[in-house]
Amino acid sequence: MFKLLIFAALLTVAYSQRQAVAYLADPEGKSGVNGNITFYETPFGVFVVGEVHGLTPGKHGFHIHEYGNISPGCKAMGSHYNPYNMTHGGPNDKIRHVGDLGNIEADNNGIAFVNMMDRVIALRGVNDIVGRGVVVHNTTDDLGKGGDEESLKTGNAGSRLACGVVGKNSNF
Ligand code: CU
Ligand code: ZN
Repeated sequence: MFKLLIFAALLTVAYSQRQAVAYLADPEGKSGVNGNITFYETPFGVFVVGEVHGLTPGKHGFHIHEYGNISPGCKAMGSHYNPYNMTHGGPNDKIRHVGDLGNIEADNNGIAFVNMMDRVIALRGVNDIVGRGVVVHNTTDDLGKGGDEESLKTGNAGSRLACGVVGKNSNF
C-alpha cells in the first residue's frame, strides 16, 4: 500500500510538469487593462492562476481564443477555441467551447484574482491551448444562457479589453 502511494506521488509529479504563461495587455494601449496568467498542468485538469488589473468592477468574459495573434483590437485572435464544433457555454457545462473559461470578477480596485481549475483545457493533445490567445472582455459572459443567437457563439461578452498569447514557460 505504501509503495503504491509513493508510485502515485511520483506519477503526480511527473504529470505536473508542463506550465504555460500569458501576459495580457491591450495591443493598442487604450484600455489600460493588463495581467498575468499561469497555466499549471495537473492530473485533474489545468490550474489557472493570475491577476488582471485595470478592469471595471464586476464580471468580465474570459476565454481562450483560436489564435495567438495580438494585432490591435485583439480581433485577430478569432473565435473561442472550439475543436469539437460545439455551441458556447460555461466552464461547468458539458456543451461548451474548449476555450470557455467563463468570467473573472474584478473587485472595487479593478483587480480580478484568477484562481480556477478547468478540466477541459489542456497543455497537450487536441485541447492544447499553447500558442492560442487569452482574451478579457468588457462585459459579462452569459455562459450561453442569454436566449439569443449571439449567446450561443460568444456569450455576449462584448469587446476585447486585453489579450495575450499562451506561451511555454521555462519548465514546460
Ligand atoms: Cu472571448
Ligand atoms: Zn465560447
